[in-house]
Amino acid sequence: MHIDILTLFPDMFDGPLTESILKRAQERDLISIRRHNIRDYATDRHHSVDDTPYGGGGGMVMMPGPLVEAVEDVRGDDLDVPVILLTPQGRVFDQRVAEEFAGHPRLILVCGRYEGVDERVRKLVITDEISIGDFVLTGGELAAMVIVDAVARLVPGVLGARWAAEEDSHAMGLLEYPHYTRPPVFRGIAVPEVLVSGDHGAVAAWRRREAIRRTWQRRPDLLLTADLSEEEGWFLADLAESDAARSG
Ligand code: ADE
Repeated sequence: MHIDILTLFPDMFDGPLTESILKRAQERDLISIRRHNIRDYATDRHHSVDDTPYGGGGGMVMMPGPLVEAVEDVRGDDLDVPVILLTPQGRVFDQRVAEEFAGHPRLILVCGRYEGVDERVRKLVITDEISIGDFVLTGGELAAMVIVDAVARLVPGVLGARWAAEEDSHAMGLLEYPHYTRPPVFRGIAVPEVLVSGDHGAVAAWRRREAIRRTWQRRPDLLLTADLSEEEGWFLADLAESDAARSG
């Protein structure tokens, strides 16, 4: 997978792209990521990339010229590559969208700044708009980092054999079950008996139940679309009933 990032601040990406898993994935040629400075496509003497808005009002708007030129140059002849603008106005990013993006061989991420981008950029070159949540950042760069991270770890081989992205929380439509490691007792709190039983079937069943319990407690909205067996449905009904009894 190849990702191009168009930004006015390419150095902001140094930490996330040059450490840990994303660093190794690039070294192993599983993903390649190129940053492009939008300012390199400015045409005037001052290398301007923003200007005041028509109609007045505060703030600055990113000019269409440098942005459209940058996208067209980076995209080349490949008109199928998604060109994704990071903006609070976009559809909200989640694990499903990460999976959708991971299915593409190439992505172009466009980081907005200031009050936003000239509307003609959207019309001419943007194919999708993504928000990482209902809050406003100072620009699209941090959002682009979130997307690169979430998508890259879905590329086969990036996480290595020991981690399976398919078993992630959210990939299953549930939050994760509780995790434990050594020691068996820490400050008087013991690891649940079943986890040291050696019974793999019982461990898997316990984890699944605890994932459902945790999702019920923290994100019941996710259960509306989770894929539960009939038995798990009954377990959930029991959880709901005992909660209702306690509060009733
Ligand atoms: N730019 C500013 N805020 C943002 C957000 N929440 N998501 C994506 N891009 C943004």
